[in-house]
Amino acid sequence: MPQSSELAARLRAATWSAHQAAAGDAFLKGLLRGEGTVDDFARLASQHLVVYRALEAAVTASRSGLLARLHHPALERAAAIESDVAALGGTRPATAATDAYAEHLASLAGDPVRLAAHHYTRYLGDLSGGQHIGRALTRRFGAHTTSFYRFAIDDLDAFKQQYRATLDTAGLDHDAERALLEEAGRAYAASHAVHASLAVEAAAVVA
Ligand code: HEM
Repeated sequence: MPQSSELAARLRAATWSAHQAAAGDAFLKGLLRGEGTVDDFARLASQHLVVYRALEAAVTASRSGLLARLHHPALERAAAIESDVAALGGTRPATAATDAYAEHLASLAGDPVRLAAHHYTRYLGDLSGGQHIGRALTRRFGAHTTSFYRFAIDDLDAFKQQYRATLDTAGLDHDAERALLEEAGRAYAASHAVHASLAVEAAAVVA
């Protein structure tokens, strides 16, 4: 039986503590405080490139049901990240955590509900706190390096409201909702692991 009509609110509530942990990641905070170097930013953008290529390939392969309704071509980020990475001096290596995240995303092709959890965590995040991150990085490194954070969407708030309404009206049954919430937790954990792997590399460079 479909659950009551506030899936987006339940998803946000279920993942908010994971969100706060992700937003507090030392690597990201250091970059935003102006402590990170251009190479740190290039390394972050290079991880994004691997992750979004995998996400967008999996979305293309399994665009049905909930995922088809949530997706919009204006969300796709791979081309924007390619241009940012080029402006930042070229691709840096993927960390093991990034490769693991990309492999996990590829394994979800054909599972639109679990893939939707990653779609939500990445794109709604990019349209939310990501906008704040993008402004900070643009001030520091220039707009030619931050296309990733700019979307060809006129009204981001309206878009996010529509996205949440799509979740609310998806009619997911109990098992599907459980899978969505569980997988969103994995999406945050995977992002955290990527940031942590970048922090470890940065510490190794300093040491
Ligand atoms: C410095 C880092 C971050 C800051 C300052 C930040 C800030 C925010 C803020 C203020 C919102 C609420 C916006 C709104 O209600 O419209 C938000 C939403 C969100 N953020 Fe972040 N964020 C950060 C990092 C992240 C990361 C790393 C992820 C994902 C891995 C993420 C995923 C999300 C998602 C999915 C939402 C939407 C929640 C919902 O309404 O359902 N954020 N963020």
